[in-house]
Amino acid sequence: MLTDHTETTSLISTALAAEVRTGLTQQPKRLSSRFFYDAEGSRLFSEIMHLPEYYLTRSEYEIIDNYKDQWLSLFTAGNRPFDLIELGAGDGLKTKVLLTHFVAQNARFTYSPVDISDTALDELTEDLAHKLPSLAVTPQHGDYTDALASIAQRTYTGTNPPRKVVLFLGSNIGNFTPDDAVAFYAQLSASLAPGDLLLTGFDLQKHPAVIHAAYNDRQGLTKAFNLNLLRRINRELDADFNLVNFDHYEVYDPERGEARSYLVSQTRQTVTIGALDMAISFDYGEIIHTEISRKFTREGIDQLAEQTGFSQSHWFTDCRHYFADVVYTK
Ligand code: AVJ
Repeated sequence: MLTDHTETTSLISTALAAEVRTGLTQQPKRLSSRFFYDAEGSRLFSEIMHLPEYYLTRSEYEIIDNYKDQWLSLFTAGNRPFDLIELGAGDGLKTKVLLTHFVAQNARFTYSPVDISDTALDELTEDLAHKLPSLAVTPQHGDYTDALASIAQRTYTGTNPPRKVVLFLGSNIGNFTPDDAVAFYAQLSASLAPGDLLLTGFDLQKHPAVIHAAYNDRQGLTKAFNLNLLRRINRELDADFNLVNFDHYEVYDPERGEARSYLVSQTRQTVTIGALDMAISFDYGEIIHTEISRKFTREGIDQLAEQTGFSQSHWFTDCRHYFADVVYTK
């Protein structure tokens, strides 16, 4: 359920507590990347998007700018209005290009950004109120599960009901395991009606060195982003991680098309998690797995559509073929 601000914050702390309890008692230790995005984590990710090494955002920006007009035709086909629902909207940097274009073209549509970070969502909503005052915006705070439920709940009546257009940009799907990605798209597809659309972004497989650099930036922002997870656990669960005792390590495995992030314990140490009444020991060099960012092939992307009940995919890419935005049709 989508809930108000304070209630959701405590729900997320409860989810974080459960994650820390199970993840840090497993072998190898692990924590989910979905907990990266507190206020500081969302801010750090916004900075990552501007890094010279982080090509993903610029590539997708190029695609959006090139194809925004063609997309508007797809979204309004049959002269229907549309409800644009964005999963993991974040600061909406790229989406604003689309929204601005759609408003300038007098398109009939509404916009519902969904994000796990309420600070990111508040800032986006406020900014849109200034820049595009005529646009109807309904922000929803929640995770992907909440978003799926809310998409399924929307039903329309009338002679020319809006089509649902779900935006899932930025290769956020890369954080899912292959099985979870199929399950997620299948569930999404099940909550759409024929003619509804999913516009989804995929980072493509390319020279491994390019991908490696994107997650090992020289400024150390990706390291700070990864370490921020420990700072969050310190604050929300009364833990005593000493951040200088942990390092960032990220590998890209080109055979699996998978970038993996780790935190590495630089010493033998014991950390206490006050809220869980737990002590966790780390050996020299012991890792915590924190994120996967999968990279896709065109075959993989088409196969994903077929496996999850989408009938067609339109493919859009940037000039370097680094990234693809794909329109799946229900
Ligand atoms: C927001 C999930 C697309 O995996 O590239 C950036 C997050 N992690 N640098 C990604 C991220 C490290 C990002 N996504």
